[in-house]
Amino acid sequence: MRTVFWDYDNNTVKMIDQRQLPFEFVVAEFDDYHDVARSIREMYVRGAPAIGATAAFGMALAARKSRAKDLKTLRSDLEGAAETLNAARPTAVNLSWAVASQIDVAGDESLKNIGELRQALLTSAQRIADDDVELNRQMGFNGAELVSDGDTILHHCNTGALATVDWGTALGVIFAAHEQGKKVHVLVDETRPRLQGSRLTAWELKNRGISFDLIADNAAGHFMRTGQVDIVLVGSDRTAANGDVANKIGTYKLAVVAKENGIPFYPVVPTSTIDLALANGDLIPIEERTPDEVLKAIDRPIAPDGITARNPAFDVTPHRFVTGIVTEMGVVYPPYGKHLRKAVEASRRGEWRPMSKSPSND
Ligand code: MRU
Repeated sequence: MRTVFWDYDNNTVKMIDQRQLPFEFVVAEFDDYHDVARSIREMYVRGAPAIGATAAFGMALAARKSRAKDLKTLRSDLEGAAETLNAARPTAVNLSWAVASQIDVAGDESLKNIGELRQALLTSAQRIADDDVELNRQMGFNGAELVSDGDTILHHCNTGALATVDWGTALGVIFAAHEQGKKVHVLVDETRPRLQGSRLTAWELKNRGISFDLIADNAAGHFMRTGQVDIVLVGSDRTAANGDVANKIGTYKLAVVAKENGIPFYPVVPTSTIDLALANGDLIPIEERTPDEVLKAIDRPIAPDGITARNPAFDVTPHRFVTGIVTEMGVVYPPYGKHLRKAVEASRRGEWRPMSKSPSND
């Protein structure tokens, strides 16, 4: 089942409510783009590619629900919807990328009437979702070349099927290595404060029968210094033109300790997550979420009443700590300024090849 999808019978957007996992499996359904924006903000759906696809479907929903009687009014309604969806979460560039590409589709002058525009937005949202699955598989098998039989992989946050439309980014590499028959073991950072590692990554690895241990975030350095980690794989919410990588809070610390211990550190990043408009990571907006996520764990207080907390959701890892960046175009190495641009441009020309065949397709 996909993490997010359009229900063609009801004309609604459906998504797995990830706030409930691993305790309950609930599918939420929305027929209004305001609720889709809320679902992104409140993290029913999360993970950069997943929220991009969700926002694209949100735009299709906005076009369906608009009462506009002419194309001009509908396009202006869509600008409003774009603003609401873009404001839901600031760091993952996939969100604004998907919304901007829907605005481009809506602006196509060859669309003759409201019906055609609505159909064009739905077709294009579906394509964004389908492409995400295909390119994740491509990226997974590109990255699996970096993983050897017997490796122990350190992983942060959740980057699997739940963070994308299906399959995943960094976890997708691990799934691909596993499908190739490599025996891998994963050390899963629990990823406080929202516990995407213990709730979601552990759920996905358990379902696939891949060997893993859950570790407290604070234990990662110990495992790296004592020679128990072969490679670190993470995702990214936005990667700047120079290769600086924004990802879940705590990633920077892992990259620094990995370098100190000579362990390769690879973000796994679809080119839709690369923001060539930003020269470096300092320009990436960092989402600050409610202190409540730090003051509580799964809604139960874990700190004295009335104290303050800070809760940046992401951090930036400077490119000097990044061994290479796995994309659907292959593994990109320094100098990132030149090589990332080449990969993004080639992908936009459609030069990545969908996987026609992989072990799981046999
Ligand atoms: O706050 P989240 O759970 O949306 O953060 C997700 C991550 O940090 C992932 O590593 C990132 O989106 C890329 S993986 C698909």
